[in-house]
Amino acid sequence: MELGLKGKVAMVTGGSRGLGRQIALTLAREGCHVAICARSDERLRQTVEELAPFEGRSLGVKADVTVEGDLKRFHEEATSTLGPVDILVNNAGGTVGGRDFGSTTDEDWLETLNFNLLGPVKLIRLVLPGMRERRWGRVVSIASIYGREYGGPLSYMTAKAALIAFSKHMAVTYAKDNVLFNAVAPGSIHFPEGSWDRFVKNSPSHVVDEFVARHLPMGKFGWPGPIGEAVAFLCSDRADLMTGVCLNVDGGQSRSLI
Ligand SMILES: NC(=O)c1ccc[n+]([C@@H]2O[C@H](COP(=O)([O-])OP(=O)(O)OC[C@H]3O[C@@H](n4cnc5c(N)ncnc54)[C@H](OP(=O)(O)O)[C@@H]3O)[C@@H](O)[C@H]2O)c1
Repeated sequence: MELGLKGKVAMVTGGSRGLGRQIALTLAREGCHVAICARSDERLRQTVEELAPFEGRSLGVKADVTVEGDLKRFHEEATSTLGPVDILVNNAGGTVGGRDFGSTTDEDWLETLNFNLLGPVKLIRLVLPGMRERRWGRVVSIASIYGREYGGPLSYMTAKAALIAFSKHMAVTYAKDNVLFNAVAPGSIHFPEGSWDRFVKNSPSHVVDEFVARHLPMGKFGWPGPIGEAVAFLCSDRADLMTGVCLNVDGGQSRSLI
């Protein structure tokens, strides 16, 4: 299926590793010019090298999504090098601090919400005016099945649920401008040096086997490829009636009907 993404300019946060790297590579394969950000130089450089053979231009910017000045710099460098931004993928996210009510401090709450929700809010402020003016924009936020149903650390589940709600509200508000907002909810996705890779390496094999048998209907962890494909599809004109959705990509892991 021709997605019609050739020449579009995309920004992907947390694009040096894991799902973000896969999303960046998939958008580049579809002909986008791609800017990625992350905090560590070395991995950023490696992924920019992987992006280089594609037809579109690419750029890596060392930036932390929890730091407002870094977001502005990421946006400025992306637009000055690649052009006005058509696609924003809010991928960077995770848990900061405690896992349950007792262990989660106010600081943990603020940092987790800042990481998963306010980073996307601030970046959208930067890209939205141009998208509205040009009457074409795609914003995809990477949530989690744990933002749709019970699971994971308390602050993470809360922040991802908030990200999905935020995306829905934005979708309704800006549908008339053809700026489409969607979310993708991955299940447990395994890749080298990712959190599930650490879980597999650091847990006794019977614990891993039990987790897989209990939670993963396919009998195996997910892999990054399908997340990249889902994001590319949502960014394309093929999905031009889709806004405000949250798409599970989880091999049947989630149990919710909604
Ligand atoms: N993996 C899963 O099973 C899974 C499941 C559901 C949802 N998700 C969601 O999918 C997204 C990506 O997950 P992942 O597993 O690929 O994450 P990851 O392994 O932690 O990689 C995240 C990427 O983000 C960058 N990053 C981390 N903190 C950052 C920050 N403050 N500012 C800028 N970049 C930052 C990392 O590079 P640096 O460390 O160099 O900054 C890396 O490029 C997250 O939102 C996560 O919640 C993942």
